[in-house]
Amino acid sequence: TREPLVLGIETSCDETGIGIVRGRTLLSNTIASSMDEHARYGGVVPEVAARAHLEALQPAIKAALAEAEVSLADLDAVAVTSGPGLAGALMVGVGAAKALAVSLDKPLYAVNHLVGHIAADILTGDEVEYPTVALLVSGGHTSLLLVRDLVSDVELLGETMDDAAGEAFDKIARILGLPYPGGPEIDKAAADGDPTAIRFPRGLSRASDMAEHRYDFSFSGLKTAVARWVEQREAAGEPVSVSDVAASFREAVVDVLVTKALDACARHGVPRLLLGGGVIANRRLREVALQRAEAAGVAVRIPPLSLCTDNGAMIAALAAELVRTGRPASTLAFGADSTLPV
Ligand code: KG4
Ligand code: ZN
Repeated sequence: TREPLVLGIETSCDETGIGIVRGRTLLSNTIASSMDEHARYGGVVPEVAARAHLEALQPAIKAALAEAEVSLADLDAVAVTSGPGLAGALMVGVGAAKALAVSLDKPLYAVNHLVGHIAADILTGDEVEYPTVALLVSGGHTSLLLVRDLVSDVELLGETMDDAAGEAFDKIARILGLPYPGGPEIDKAAADGDPTAIRFPRGLSRASDMAEHRYDFSFSGLKTAVARWVEQREAAGEPVSVSDVAASFREAVVDVLVTKALDACARHGVPRLLLGGGVIANRRLREVALQRAEAAGVAVRIPPLSLCTDNGAMIAALAAELVRTGRPASTLAFGADSTLPV
């Protein structure tokens, strides 16, 4: 039987992603980002993101079809992220997907953004095995999940209680006078810094946190600690080494992310860890994850960055699996759900 041809629409944050897959084969993955428009605000502005999606969708769909060398009439299904994410941004994608599905008379699949990140892995062409623990870290989410089956059994183990990891990078960059987005800037500055120069706190890592928040994250205390450290030095007229602060901050984030992810692998007896989200670009995170996972006997999977950051291909890939496994399409009654659970 012929594999399903699916177009996926992703508009949960600031990336307008259109992806086309045939089964597990990636045909195109078009991204239009409004990141530049958010730069002067130091973070994603929901209203700006929603308007940008409205303008970017049509050209992005055209570009994706051209790249995949297919036409709308060839599609077997349309897929869209219905949440979690920014409500207004999601609504633009959901509206477009419904219009497309109705006019083409094709089934429409509403999918979860986080499960989409996990599905990105099946587009790498490598054999994918479950169960796996998945750590998803971006500017909008920081989640630890246990995946027993991609389409039927994804369990949220924990998530951030306040800022997302990428958001923490962006806020610390601002404190240090570095431009937005802060993640790559901190990564660069940290390269010549000493990660042991300052011992910043590891959120929700005390023994007393383990009962309730073993797999949850918190970065607001870390942010406050960095801000206070910098303020105190400046008030005392002492020099602040941006590279030492960046390296020490990055080490604190990476340490807590990797420690909790490998703890989940160990306690659930799962020897696999999948990484996803834009923060996976962080060099130190990849390095520490690979080193410590190897020591723990855990195999790490890191899809190419174009599949780790928000994209439409992962949404299409997940829907193709739903089609393949005979899951029913969504009715048109669904809306955008900014807090959609997995
Ligand atoms: O997945 P993504 O592209 O999209 C959104 O979350 O919207 O992730 C973007 C986030 C930003 O917060 C950015 O600062 C962070 O990922 N990021 C990084 C690095 N590259 C991007 N964080 C740490 N280190 C990096 N090298
Ligand atoms: Zn995402």
